[in-house]
Amino acid sequence: MQESTQGESKTAQLIIDGTTYELPIVVGSENERGIDIRNLRSATGCITLDPGYGNTGACTSDITFLNGEKGILRHRGYAIEDLCEQGTFLETAYLLIYGDLPDETQNEEFVTDITRHTLIHENLRHVFQGFPLKAHPMAIISSMVCSLSAFYQESYDWGDTQNTDITIRRLIAKLPTIAAFAFKKSCGQPFIYPDNSLRYSANLLKMLFGVPCESYEADPDEAAALDQLLILHADHEQNCSTSTVRLVGSSRANLYAAISAAISALWGPLHGGANQAVLEMLQRIHDDGSKVEKYVELAKDKDADFRLMGFGHRVYKNFDPRARIIKKTCDRILEKMGVSDPLLDIAMELEEAALRDEYFVERKLYPNVDFYSGILYRALGIPTEMFTVMFAIGRLPGWIAQWREMILAPDMRIGRPRQIYNGPVARPFVPLAKRGPCPARSAG
Ligand code: SDX
Repeated sequence: MQESTQGESKTAQLIIDGTTYELPIVVGSENERGIDIRNLRSATGCITLDPGYGNTGACTSDITFLNGEKGILRHRGYAIEDLCEQGTFLETAYLLIYGDLPDETQNEEFVTDITRHTLIHENLRHVFQGFPLKAHPMAIISSMVCSLSAFYQESYDWGDTQNTDITIRRLIAKLPTIAAFAFKKSCGQPFIYPDNSLRYSANLLKMLFGVPCESYEADPDEAAALDQLLILHADHEQNCSTSTVRLVGSSRANLYAAISAAISALWGPLHGGANQAVLEMLQRIHDDGSKVEKYVELAKDKDADFRLMGFGHRVYKNFDPRARIIKKTCDRILEKMGVSDPLLDIAMELEEAALRDEYFVERKLYPNVDFYSGILYRALGIPTEMFTVMFAIGRLPGWIAQWREMILAPDMRIGRPRQIYNGPVARPFVPLAKRGPCPARSAG
């Protein structure tokens, strides 16, 4: 933590019922300031109220810095643009989890470890047969990741031990295998086992698109584009699914269980599920004659229950830097493939229409990471219902890093938010024979 700079208050004053309370102001390494309220209730009897936690810091963290106004995203001080242009996804994973970029020896050990743990237990492979054909892959990967804890019970050993390190490697190694098996199941094709001669993203593409009856080699540019997409999704400070990992992990549940919960949180269309929702929205606009203006107007109509998916962000009130990078890669890959995607044309028209519309400008609703990622996944041949699964593979190292930071924190304690109760006050029990209909039900 920094000291407050000259002229800046070191404390905040709160006056309740004529009493003045001094609350310390903490300052982060990027000069973000927070009022430390950890003793507020014991000192004042009051709690704070902040639905959706838009103004509440759950922790301090050294992992990711976002500046929503300037569109800055850095991991342990490294700009996302540099990591995308010069690094690999596994280097970024190592950086997030262990605090700095690995040297050549560390990187080779990490990559080799992960390569050697990509298989899943054959008993677990059989579990896939129990799912219905059209099971959503997010339901499958969430269940399968939690099931890993049944096979590796040393992961119940709490704390940063050797068991934690092998659990971290197993998760990063096995999630792509589980994801690819879920996809193969959905299209009735044989599972393609991992190939240890391939690097992470090329191996994932082979498990997704390879078939036993012919050889498959991922296009290097496509493997590089996928690696970049995974880097872009790797971490994003205390978003919904990361906060889920921290909360579940704070009860000392094992890491597999915490990651399974995060996958479920990510599934929501307001969060990671938005990338699938963006493609479905673009397809709907396309099928409706590409009337972009109609849908911009619909998104402004509060009664329409329609949002421009892929637009807006709780933190970014300027461009999401990840959207910029993805759009450039999109253009490059589509040009290389000689593919012109009508949905990309609609996406660009939609972006242009929204960004000149007062409603969006006033609310600072810009394209976020999910707006273009689906176009790129589609260009790589990945089906829409697998988009959020790809997001989960990318976000996994960030979830792990945040969980590890939490378990190592000296002040770590179980997460337990408070509330302001607003229900009925004390009242006598009414015997069944004397009760009227429950008002809530009759109103239903
Ligand atoms: C991710 O947190 C993260 O970091 C998430 C993420 C990560 O990497 O982990 O970045 C990944 O989840 C990106 C966001 C993906 N979701 C979407 O694209 C879904 C569409 N976007 C929205 O639903 C919304 O913008 C959120 C959920 C992203 C943010 O919601 P907020 O901050 O709670 O904002 P809000 O819902 O209070 O909206 C503020 C206003 C409202 O209008 P008014 O009440 O002021 O009249 O903006 C409007 C909203 O109706 N609004 C939109 C809109 N998003 C917000 N109106 C139309 N279309 C939209 N997309």
